[in-house]
Amino acid sequence: MNDVKCEDLPRHLAIIMDGNGRWAKMRGLPRLAGHRKGADAVRTIVTSCRERGIKVLTLFAFSSQNWSRPLSEVKGLMTLLYTYIKSETAMILDNGIRLTTIGQLDRIPVFARAAVEELVEASESNSDMTLCLSLSYGGREEIVSMARDIGRMCTNGKLAPEDIDANVVENALWSSELGPVDLMIRTSGELRVSNFLLWSLAYSELYFADCMWPDFDESALDRALQSYVKRQRRFGAVV
Ligand code: FPP
Repeated sequence: MNDVKCEDLPRHLAIIMDGNGRWAKMRGLPRLAGHRKGADAVRTIVTSCRERGIKVLTLFAFSSQNWSRPLSEVKGLMTLLYTYIKSETAMILDNGIRLTTIGQLDRIPVFARAAVEELVEASESNSDMTLCLSLSYGGREEIVSMARDIGRMCTNGKLAPEDIDANVVENALWSSELGPVDLMIRTSGELRVSNFLLWSLAYSELYFADCMWPDFDESALDRALQSYVKRQRRFGAVV
């Protein structure tokens, strides 16, 4: 990526890390082995994004719908989350990365949640890059929560319905401080958005990589970024 200027890169990159299960199946391994490899890919990609100057990286780590997976897989994913936080704490703090989350964090088991919350607090003043983990997150769930909050403000007389505009909606979303997504990458060849960041993806460029998430490495990231910098973004206007 030496030939690409930092200001041309996406400010906010969001990734649907799909294909851990298939990666494992293709090798005759249990699904959790795929998730473990997936966590290694998270390590690589977070470091690569930091090196390239990406300001915000949002990862779809666990969706609201993922609770319906077998309990052993859910437990395995929560343990991986805990292990990831513990093993990456020094890297995150030393590299000016601020950890944040979106989603229903209160649904995450306390052992993993406490580790996440501790690092969110410890990294609060870092400003070189924001790493946002989507945990028990769903775009529709986020919209429902926003509607309830705005409804409450109207009932309490703090807001008139006529004053609801895009800014009010945006400010009431879990993801408001992250800003719009510039580039969304999904691995595994699936061509879906799957309830990820529905509001913030409005004008996002989309990139679909054929490889499974555990195989998504630095050069795969660079291919996605190269594709992004070549695109002309018009936001509905004529350029
Ligand atoms: C989708 O693959 C992936 C997930 C539901 C979980 C993502 C988790 C990780 C990348 C590892 C742990 C995360 C962190 C932040 C340390 P899938 O299981 O749906 O794959 P499949 O579609 O091939 O079955």
